[in-house]
Parts: sequence; structure tokens; C-alpha cells
Amino acid sequence: METQKQLTIGLFGFGVVGEGLYKVLNQTPSLNATIKKVCIKNYGKKRDAPASLFTTEKEELLNDRDINVIVEVIDDTEAAFDIVSTAMKNGKDVVSASKKMIAEYFTELLALQKETGKSLLYEAAACASIPVIRNLEEYYDYDLLQSVRAIVNGSTNYMLTKIIDEGLDFKQALLQAQQLGFAESNPTLDVEGYDAVNKWAFLLTHAYGIVEKTDALLFNGIQNIHATDAVVANEKNQEIKLVAQAQKLKNGKVAAFVLPQFVNQNDHLAFVKNEYNGVVIESGFADKQFFYGKGAGSFPTASAVLSDISALRYEYKYEYKKLYHHQPHALSNDIFLRVYVSFDDISLIPKENFEWIEEWHAREERKYLVGIISVASLHGKNWWKENGVSLILLPEPVIEEIETRKLKQRSLELAGIVN
Ligand code: HSE
Repeated sequence: METQKQLTIGLFGFGVVGEGLYKVLNQTPSLNATIKKVCIKNYGKKRDAPASLFTTEKEELLNDRDINVIVEVIDDTEAAFDIVSTAMKNGKDVVSASKKMIAEYFTELLALQKETGKSLLYEAAACASIPVIRNLEEYYDYDLLQSVRAIVNGSTNYMLTKIIDEGLDFKQALLQAQQLGFAESNPTLDVEGYDAVNKWAFLLTHAYGIVEKTDALLFNGIQNIHATDAVVANEKNQEIKLVAQAQKLKNGKVAAFVLPQFVNQNDHLAFVKNEYNGVVIESGFADKQFFYGKGAGSFPTASAVLSDISALRYEYKYEYKKLYHHQPHALSNDIFLRVYVSFDDISLIPKENFEWIEEWHAREERKYLVGIISVASLHGKNWWKENGVSLILLPEPVIEEIETRKLKQRSLELAGIVN
């Protein structure tokens, strides 16, 4: 049998994930992988590892010929890209957990992988402990992936659980998510949906071969969820979740977005609480499959990094099969959504943007409506993200054939069933 490839690691970052990896590796001697050096920003902090392990000089790692793997778990996007590209050009394989960097520099990273022939693995960058990238890449290596719906941000899911199930206020819930090491150092990235849409952008490549910047996707976070929304959800026996969704349309294109959604109790995603993430995949013949696991935190994230390191022993690379070996799908915003919108001041709502409005609840101080609106008319607009307006998707499939729906709506109106 071939002897196992010895992996000598240069680690960038010793925060929640970096330290977690250090501990996890120490408990996994069978992996034949050792950390030779750790590059940190400053020596100031007290760290639970020998001082001789640390340096502040990135070249010490990037130019060390013994080091054949660079693991990068820092949260400075530009510095991370610089480290990853230099490492690959210097002939090293790379494992990264920097979601924002991967989303922002995706095209460049694809080119670097082609140019250098080195592996760049980033399973830890989406859904932490759930092996979602390798699943989408390897298992669903065919054209029958109908839809993927997922909770991809642990902090916001943790916060929604604490706010809705346990009555904490927004600030308390965020503070806890920060204290537990789930949130980004800039928690706006979690709360306003940026982290989720970053992850969704590159998951769409592995699922459908779509390569798009995040600004091509409709997204929001949970910053505007109002106490009234939680009351409405409870009355309807539903949960509110921040859901990333992709759905293949009849025209072969894919609709994709990240929005807060009301989720029925019998939806698998309703079961996902706290910092857990979940992925529901619907495919041609298998019907529904559900993946579940911790989506944030030190050891769950380190476990995914560890698995990537292990995969380097057999020189595993992403092949981007949907992009290079199949006809990639195009992204489409040509769909309509049934949404709930709550607000204090009706003048903030451009009623004319809705195809039609099904319900008005205008008597209470906090008002809400339910209506049908196109993604195109929400995309690039901010009225539904600002001034306390809260927009939540209702639990029904995206609407592709608006003409049929319009006719049906009109006939119901004529019959006096709705108005
Ligand atoms: N802040 C991220 C989250 C960490 O809460 O999901 C894991 O990517």
C-alpha cells in the first residue's frame, strides 16, 4: 500500500476556528498532519499553544518548502485572497474557511485552480459541519437537482430561536451568538444576510454551475423582523427562518435568493434550531433529502477543515462538474413571490409594485399585508429593507406562471371570494 502523504501545515489565524483546528488536530494523530507554524496578526493575546509555533511574518509560511498545505481561517478578505493566491502559486494546496473572500474572488479562484493545478478546498465555508459542498459536487453529479433550500447562517438561526421560542430581545440574542463564537467579527454580515448570500453564491456553483456575484441575488437578513411577525408566525403555527433557496424553473433556468420565510411545522427546516444549519434537497427521483448539523462554532467548523485536510492526502480537488462538465444553468429573477409585509406607515409601501394584494390588516398599530410581487421589482430596491418594513416569504413555491395566477385571481374577485 502506498504510504500516506505527510501533510505539513502552515496555519493563518488562531481565532475561534484556528484554535479549534489546532486542538482537533492534536486529537487526530492518525491523520499524519502537523502544524509547523501559525501566522497571527499580533503577539499580544495569550494563546494556549507553545510561543515558538507563532509568527507574524506570512513569508515564513508561504516560502517554507516543507509546508505543503496552507490553512487560512482569517476574516480579512483582501489579506485572505493574497495568502491563498500566493500559496497556490508557490505550489501549496489550500484549505480556506473565508466565505466572504471565496464569494468575492470566486472567478479569480477558479482561474488560480486551473493555472496552478493545486487544490483549494473550502467545505468549512458553508454550513460548517455539514458536508454540503462535496455532496452537491459529487453525489448530485447529474442534472436532476430540482431545488435546494437551506439554513446556512448559524448566528441568525440561533438568534431567531432565542427571540421567537425564548422571548429574548434582538440585542441579547446577538450578544449570546457573539459570546458563543458563532457571529462574524462584524455581526452585520450575519444579521443583514451578507454571510448567507456569500455562502449561497458559491453553493450555487456546486449545485447548478451558476457563477454570479452576490449582487445578482435577492437577499435580506433578519434585522427587520418585528415582534408582530413572531406573533403572526405563532398564530399560524409557523416558524420564521432565514432561508437560502434555489429552484429550477420550467425554462431550465434557476431562481435563487435568501430571504426570511415563514416555515410550516412539517417542513424539515422548522426542526433546525439554534446554531444548527439544515439543507433540504429535492431531486428528480430521490424526492426529498435532509442534511442537518452544526453550522457555526469552533469544533464543528474545525471538523470540516479537518476533513478537507484529510482529503488532500488523496489529492482531492473540486472538479466544478456542473460548471465544466455539464451545461451550466443560468440565474433567473423572472419569478413572483407570495410575501407578507409588515410596516408602521403605509406610505412606505409602493402598492403599485404588487401584482395583487390578497390581505390587508390595517387596524392595529403595526399593519401588514399579503401580496404577490415579482423578484425583479424587489431587486435593487430598498423600501422593503428600510424604515422598519419587514418582508417575509410565505411557505409556498415560487410562482412561475403569473398569467394563469392572474386569471384565477380575477375570477375569484369577480365571484366575490376575495377582493
Ligand atoms: N457567522 C457564521 C454563521 C459562522 O453564523 O453561520 C459560520 O460560517
